[in-house]
Amino acid sequence: MTTNTDTPHPADIPNSTEAQRVRIFDTTLRDGEQSPGAAMTFEEKLEVADYLDAMGVDIIEAGFPIASQGDFDAVAEIARRVENATVCGLSRAGFKDIDRAAAALKQAKRPRIHTFISTSPVHMKHKLNMGANAVLDAVGASVSHARKLVDDVQWSAEDATRTEHDFLCRCVELAIRSGATTINIPDTVGYATPQEFFELITMLLNRVPNIDKAVIATHCHNDLGLAVANSLAGVLAGARQIECTINGIGERAGNAALEEIVMALKVRKDRMPFLTGIDTTMLSRASKLVSNVTGFPVQYNKAIVGKNAFSHESGIHQDGMLKNVETYEIMRPETVGVKETSLVLGKLSGRHAFRDKLALLGYELTDAAFEDAFRRFKALADKKKTVFDDDIVALVDDEIVRAADFISVKALRVSTGVGIAPTAAMTLLVEGEEKTAEVSGDGAVDAIFNVIREIYPHTVNLQLYQVKAVTEGTDAQADVSIRLEEDGRTVTGRGADTDTLVASAYAYVNALNKLLVKRRKQAPETLNVAQ
Ligand code: KIV
Ligand code: ZN
Repeated sequence: MTTNTDTPHPADIPNSTEAQRVRIFDTTLRDGEQSPGAAMTFEEKLEVADYLDAMGVDIIEAGFPIASQGDFDAVAEIARRVENATVCGLSRAGFKDIDRAAAALKQAKRPRIHTFISTSPVHMKHKLNMGANAVLDAVGASVSHARKLVDDVQWSAEDATRTEHDFLCRCVELAIRSGATTINIPDTVGYATPQEFFELITMLLNRVPNIDKAVIATHCHNDLGLAVANSLAGVLAGARQIECTINGIGERAGNAALEEIVMALKVRKDRMPFLTGIDTTMLSRASKLVSNVTGFPVQYNKAIVGKNAFSHESGIHQDGMLKNVETYEIMRPETVGVKETSLVLGKLSGRHAFRDKLALLGYELTDAAFEDAFRRFKALADKKKTVFDDDIVALVDDEIVRAADFISVKALRVSTGVGIAPTAAMTLLVEGEEKTAEVSGDGAVDAIFNVIREIYPHTVNLQLYQVKAVTEGTDAQADVSIRLEEDGRTVTGRGADTDTLVASAYAYVNALNKLLVKRRKQAPETLNVAQ
């Protein structure tokens, strides 16, 4: 490992695959899910974990088992089902936290306990109310205890970038001596600059005597928009694990974005000669999956996965692209799984063509789900002149989202216009029983939400109502996301249809269904209709 303060030239890095291998530690399900409004249901977490595993993520941080029974259950189920990745559970330094993490990871093929404590003066004084010696004692005790339960222990110095260097070195040395095999250096508040972060990792490599016994990890937050740059600077200095999240979701401004890290390493291997195990063709779909389950939209100009990341609007650029794609393109869209937008199927397309298209888009549906999706595709093709790949993705994702619903929309009629009080008449199927009502509202969408509350009384806060067009044109499908909150539990519902009002009804009912699942898991007796 290079330990001087200059950026090592690629030729300085030993030419072995292992020395060049950077492990990708995904914390979408822990740090990502921790960000306000990004809560995922149990089933959504499993879907994300399965996808991360298939994509080649090395370590999946599945949650914080002591935080709640829901977190514990999700970590335990992810630990049980994940085939390839190491599954990691977070814990503070207390033995109770560590034991809970170990219990959740019991069935993992490759379990890792990640224990952390703050080491910066400001955190030790105001958050922990602990002195330096007490923190050192906690580091030794927590890591030793975790190491009795699993072989793979990661220790993090929370707020490492604002920690005094001498003290950080002592903590890191002790953590390794106590059995930590990975040492994580978080820029918890997103304060570091790339040069500074490079120097911090270099300092640890130069000064901690047993540092060669552990892998150094980066965990950079994005408060100054530097999370990816800082993580890469850490790797150039000698770190070999990067902690990141899909779409960069996470506390406040988020974490380093996995897709940006992976593609920067792939596209610029001339300057950063490192390898990851990620199948980059799965990145675009990973981004859509996480955006769908959290309801967090991906900004249009987001690097790698934004809608515009590979579009060329200006005449000069389009002309250049037609002559040679390398004029304005540093990576092919297919590399990240973006396929040419194609005019796919029409209303005359049959089951065979539809099944082929689903396979191409990466879907494997059961026969019943396929039949449902095909019926909805036919209905869509009747309403919409052109059906694109994105339409099919929205339609099938919507089908998957609504598959296990207790409540579903049977019929909806909305009257609205100038000088008319908007009203919505709706029939819902509530666990198989038809219920109908008609109610007015401040607008058509408000009337729809009111009529749902009339038929199925409940009290929730509507935190987000968001409409996106799936493709271009006035006949485009609307993709509606809704976030509901009840007693601190949040859920995100989605619905897609060529009619925005119908999509809104689907999205609200989908969110309500998820809330019912959460209520049922936490307290079966509260499942009765709210008064
Ligand atoms: O940002 C941070 O410091 C963390 C730690 C728990 C690793 O998320
Ligand atoms: Zn963090």
